[in-house]
Amino acid sequence: MLIIDKILPLQEQLSVWRNEGQKIALVPTMGNLHDGHLSLIDNARQFADKVIVSIFVNPTQFVQGEDYGTYPRTPDEDRQKLITLATDILFNPETGEIYTDDTQQQTQIAVPGLDNILCGLSRPGHFSGVATVVTKLFNIVRPDTALFGEKDYQQLLIIKKLVQDLFFPVEIIGIPTVREKDGLAMSSRNSYLNIEERKCAPILYRTLKQTADSITAGNSDFSGLETSGQSALDHAGFKTEYFSIRNAGTLGDPGEDDLVILAAAHLGKARLIDNVIIRR
Ligand code: PAF
Repeated sequence: MLIIDKILPLQEQLSVWRNEGQKIALVPTMGNLHDGHLSLIDNARQFADKVIVSIFVNPTQFVQGEDYGTYPRTPDEDRQKLITLATDILFNPETGEIYTDDTQQQTQIAVPGLDNILCGLSRPGHFSGVATVVTKLFNIVRPDTALFGEKDYQQLLIIKKLVQDLFFPVEIIGIPTVREKDGLAMSSRNSYLNIEERKCAPILYRTLKQTADSITAGNSDFSGLETSGQSALDHAGFKTEYFSIRNAGTLGDPGEDDLVILAAAHLGKARLIDNVIIRR
């Protein structure tokens, strides 16, 4: 595996491969790799000859007061995992390589309509930070394919929209959420849970799943289901931010199309998000 931290040598290597006709997949990450990330990397092989993984803890997607400083960073373990998966390049730039100026002064990408609802309400500017760094990574790597987890469902739709709106020649692939045995969606922030909170955490997925089962069985009282989903979580000890049933394609009002039930809830120091998609 090549480990590269500068844009220029990365692009030189990529253009050699591109000239040989090799297809390139990008898996953008913030490191602290778990099985969810490894599944993205595994899947990337189906779409491309060369797999590039970026590890960059992106400062602009952390809202003031969030965990940018303490976000788990495990570079040695990450490197070992990537070698085991036969990753072709690890791109791990310093902040100054990606943000060449004071981050407040830089061009920012907004995806209005999608970036100011759900998680965007409590994390203003978060999705603009994500959209900006992903745009930068797409311009640096120019991948044929890029893979993202469905766990960050709103993020996935925002990236699909920006690719469509800005005519990026990249195919975006969403990969199903990888879960612990008890259903908890894998996430770097699960490490913030203490033992008691960790026992309680799977209730988030269980509640989403029960709501999905109820809809599949014919219950169409979405607002009642949202209220009871939220109460079930609050009762279990979560501080629920939202529990919402939306159109899976637009995150607008649910219609006759596929649905997604999304939730964000705090448990101790951890803010957990999860979702269940209902295909119809
Ligand atoms: O999902 C993530 O880990 C991050 O939001 C991403 C897409 C790597 C952008 O920093």
